[in-house]
Amino acid sequence: MSTTQTNKIEIIKAATSKINEVDFENLSFGSIFTDHLFECDFKNGEWQKPVIKPYAPFLLDPSSRVFHYGQAIFEGMKAYKDEDDAIWLFRPDENYKRFNKSAVRMAMQEVPEDIFMNGLKELLKLDEAWIKRGKGNSMYIRPFMIATGTGVIANPSDNYKFMIILSPVSAYYAGEVKVLIAEHYSRAANGGIGAAKAAGNYAAQFYPTSLANKQGFQQVIWTDDATHTKLEEAGTMNVFFRINDTLFTAPVSERILDGVTRKTLIDLAKSEGINVDVRPVLVSELVEASKNGTLKEIFGAGTAAVVSPISGFSYQDVYHELPNNEDSMALKLKDKLTNIQNKIAEDTFGWTVKV
Ligand code: COI
Repeated sequence: MSTTQTNKIEIIKAATSKINEVDFENLSFGSIFTDHLFECDFKNGEWQKPVIKPYAPFLLDPSSRVFHYGQAIFEGMKAYKDEDDAIWLFRPDENYKRFNKSAVRMAMQEVPEDIFMNGLKELLKLDEAWIKRGKGNSMYIRPFMIATGTGVIANPSDNYKFMIILSPVSAYYAGEVKVLIAEHYSRAANGGIGAAKAAGNYAAQFYPTSLANKQGFQQVIWTDDATHTKLEEAGTMNVFFRINDTLFTAPVSERILDGVTRKTLIDLAKSEGINVDVRPVLVSELVEASKNGTLKEIFGAGTAAVVSPISGFSYQDVYHELPNNEDSMALKLKDKLTNIQNKIAEDTFGWTVKV
């Protein structure tokens, strides 16, 4: 191991790299991590010296608040390499802002921008060999923060650990995506933490999603908790519905995550002259549109999922198969988006940021 300092970050390099053990042609999403991680602790009322060090397990006190009260938040971002091997981030400011919004909602410490952004950029530079060029390849970035303060009193922690880990990825969904529309379970409620990227929001979905998996569905589309009549979002992505040639998606709310890919697709679609209607979408409208043949597409949008076409949905035990569209808006928007992210097309929106 060797130690250096960059932008006040201590860098402890791994003695050897694991990169040659990785089969980059057969990556399973989020299961392989690069040689290093970024870490910065908040304790004694201040942020401590940030460090980049070899990726490894670490010790925590069993009474750390994260284990008992679930004070844990995360983000999902991606980095890409262009044909000159320059590294690019996509709208990192949006993830940074949302991270701190989540921190405030979960009564956690906000992370200063220089710690978040410099830590991320230095980590990407150090592990740059792990970022592969070409569409479909990217480096999934997982910034997260956990409560490390000890004691099982049910109060917010005074100490936190902020970390960033990197995972080279290809597609999140390898095959067909069929969804079940929730009739009983909910992802979030008004006044709750649905708009935060809180770890518990995802844990709460695991059980109902596993029931859906057993019935052959990959994901659940959540409906509003009060009436179960409005379509909200899916487990790992926001959702768009194409009825005739208009795209509909639910407005963000206290219950729905303000997805970066979601807002990007809205802007991209509008710039392509596609009519986008952001308003609550009713389950009854979807069923009706499916019956009368005006429902053309449903697709998910998220950092991990990118743009994922959905092949059909089930509601009240009736399965509705979606038509095959030669002029798929999902695929057109996916192409536009990934061309910008991979620096194949000009980024007229100013979304890409060089590392
Ligand atoms: C992302 O798209 O980055 C997410 O956070 C979804 C994740 C649960 C895979």
